[in-house]
Amino acid sequence: MTVTTRNPLGRSGLLVAPLTLGTMTFGRSDFGCDEPTAYRIIDEYVEAGGNLFDTADTYGGGASEQIIGGYVASRRIRDSVVFTTKFTMDSAPREPLSGGNGRRSMLRALEGSLRRLQTDYVDLYLLHSWDGATAIEEVIRSFDDAVTAGKVRYVGLSNVPAWYAARAYTLAEWRGYERPCVLQLEYSLVERGLEYEFPSMCSELSMSLMPWSPLANGVLTGRYSPERGPGESGRLANEAFTNHPEKWPEKRTPRTWEIVAELSSVASEVGRSMAQVAINWLAGRPGVSTIVLGASKPGQIESLMTALDFQLSADQLRRLDEVSRPATAEPYDYWPRIRKRMKMNDWQSPVPAGENSSADGSLEGRQQ
Ligand SMILES: NC(=O)c1ccc[n+]([C@@H]2O[C@H](COP(=O)([O-])OP(=O)(O)OC[C@H]3O[C@@H](n4cnc5c(N)ncnc54)[C@H](OP(=O)(O)O)[C@@H]3O)[C@@H](O)[C@H]2O)c1
Repeated sequence: MTVTTRNPLGRSGLLVAPLTLGTMTFGRSDFGCDEPTAYRIIDEYVEAGGNLFDTADTYGGGASEQIIGGYVASRRIRDSVVFTTKFTMDSAPREPLSGGNGRRSMLRALEGSLRRLQTDYVDLYLLHSWDGATAIEEVIRSFDDAVTAGKVRYVGLSNVPAWYAARAYTLAEWRGYERPCVLQLEYSLVERGLEYEFPSMCSELSMSLMPWSPLANGVLTGRYSPERGPGESGRLANEAFTNHPEKWPEKRTPRTWEIVAELSSVASEVGRSMAQVAINWLAGRPGVSTIVLGASKPGQIESLMTALDFQLSADQLRRLDEVSRPATAEPYDYWPRIRKRMKMNDWQSPVPAGENSSADGSLEGRQQ
């Protein structure tokens, strides 16, 4: 067993492994894997001490939930694992009523997820994406109803603005509803945009971060390069995946390759794979409680499950932080300057205290 610790999600009583098994690839013939392969991947994860499965009603058109549900039922391990699933996406394309953040969409999706997962409750139920329309009050009330009905244990949000999450949390707190305990967002060495707002919000409101695409779709394994482009294997060479507007090559800028080069050099120094170093770096970022790993082939998860078994030096962390630092942006750089001018050194940074906080609390200064 390689993962033995459990982290709470936010202030909830839900204890989870620091590495989650993401299952977006399960049951997909294009850039994913079939059921027997998925079972081997799940075996690797469970044998390495994992207990948290991340899925969604629409992953593999429902096949992902079916595979996980079938695995857990056949192994009789429901009491020792945690199911996270999500609603929002349109499960019947071109039918608006089959998606969105509204009550009807949520309850319809939840019933389907319970059936496919072969369970009578979901441990952690997430809103998959903000739809830009549904009132927050409707979402938190519907979440709370699902908890009261015993169909959901805890709730969380994915792909929402920080203001939305803060308002949802605060309204739920004031109305005595179940509060969201986790935020699932894209976060990796190449995608650090959430750092402007989310870590400080999570600290203030006692929520956890649950990063997705921690290897930037495989870019942080070193298997892609500007010369080779997306290559011939892997999801970035697959049209079904790259048709997604934000994937390749839009996000693969010169900055990405500088990060990959520095990651490669740190990985050589510590004698670990680039993927393991990228996951290790992410696990130490403020607010991160569990990282959602992805895989489509046996062996990938097995190697990632040892990514937390070593420590990077202060110098290695500084180099990774510097090469991947997000651009400065106002107003996030304004108040550190003002505090410095006023010599407010005793001001408490919203970033959790300890080695993750910099002396001035600025985004640039943050290191592990
Ligand atoms: N909330 C959301 O909106 C959202 C969005 C996306 C994902 N997610 C969740 O997050 C999970 C992870 O996301 P992701 O799959 O994008 O994560 P990722 O870590 O960025 O990419 C995973 C891919 O990296 C490659 N890989 C992983 N380990 C490897 C290894 N040891 N050696 C070589 N290549 C390796 C594989 O690519 P190949 O398959 O090409 O071999 C694998 O499928 C998903 O399964 C899903 O549960 C959530």
